[in-house]
Amino acid sequence: MSIRSIENIEVKSRLVLVRADLNVPLDGRKVTDTTRIDRFVPTAKALIARGARVVIMSHLGRPGGEVNPAFSLQPVAAALSVALGADVAFASDCVGQTAEIAVDKLGDGDVLLLENLRFHKGETDNSETFATRLSVLGDLYVNDAFSTAHRAHASTHAITRKLPSYAGPSLMAEINALSAALTTPEKPVAALVGGAKVSSKIGVLEFLVPKMDKLIIGGGMANTFLAALGYSVGKSLCEMDALDTARGIMDAARANNCELILPVDVVVAKEFSAGAENQVVAIDAIPDDAMALDVGPQSEAAIIAALSECKTLLWNVEPFGHGTFAVAKAAADLTVAGKLITVAGGGDTAAALNAAGASENFTYLSTAGGAFLEWLEGRELPGIAALENQSNTEAA
Ligand code: 3PG
Repeated sequence: MSIRSIENIEVKSRLVLVRADLNVPLDGRKVTDTTRIDRFVPTAKALIARGARVVIMSHLGRPGGEVNPAFSLQPVAAALSVALGADVAFASDCVGQTAEIAVDKLGDGDVLLLENLRFHKGETDNSETFATRLSVLGDLYVNDAFSTAHRAHASTHAITRKLPSYAGPSLMAEINALSAALTTPEKPVAALVGGAKVSSKIGVLEFLVPKMDKLIIGGGMANTFLAALGYSVGKSLCEMDALDTARGIMDAARANNCELILPVDVVVAKEFSAGAENQVVAIDAIPDDAMALDVGPQSEAAIIAALSECKTLLWNVEPFGHGTFAVAKAAADLTVAGKLITVAGGGDTAAALNAAGASENFTYLSTAGGAFLEWLEGRELPGIAALENQSNTEAA
């Protein structure tokens, strides 16, 4: 991969325009999860230490090309300042005079955060004009936002045609971790994929089957696989119109020598509510009036046994109950023991693993949602492709 890193480029006294992903959850003006800010801190600190004039751009939410104070990045500037232990100036627009004046005031090692890029339609339109307006704010462009790399937007794509462009350290780390798990994994390699619907994960499952030695199906979509095998799943979440898709994936797994692991027992209850009476049943004994809520102890043990035979695990399921928590804990323990490389991400996986307290011992936890899933489908990510293809770089 021919991506140039910013690491060996002279940045002292230069305006470095960095695309970060500071799209963090807010409750009013309070940042409720600082993971993405914390991930960006080492990049910002390194640029500050090297005497760069750091101009940060990001989106927040989906304001649809209009100014909307509910989506302002101002509270994020305050949170970033706390995380950095340094002042972070804020410009109330990301282009034009306001931004240009704020940039002119920067000295070496200073940091400026620009207002939400998506207050301008040109951002999501990948507009050349908008990219040109952004580009006057920097001497160099750095993309440090893997989690937005699946978007061909002005700040991730068109901008690379306007400025010498490089990858930032956390984008590089993300690519390296993800490639180590999928492109050149230590074998045997397993993936644990979950989610409510098979239909939303077809691309992921089809791409993974030929690459994985074991594919463990978790979450609600396991019910669709069980139904496809002829089991009655009672009132469980199940996509009856995706049974053929599930069968196709099972056939592909057989043809590719990929062991597909499904639950052998489940925890069922009559309703989906905390405290509802539940019981463990084998998958051929799910009562008609009950729904599967979690994997049972035998499935849990079988999954953990399968993991202990593997060297690499790709994790894309949000832990939702005792069974998945136990599997997450076992994966973390195997990682700590140096027996398993664990890479997790996609959708809300990182936040869910964090909330479950199960994440810190994973080898790598991606903060990317959609970008991680597109990468798991083997799709080209425009933000990465733009960095690979452009010749607009300076010699190191
Ligand atoms: C994310 O949260 O996955 C990224 O910040 C991208 O956000 P988007 O889906 O609104 O483009």
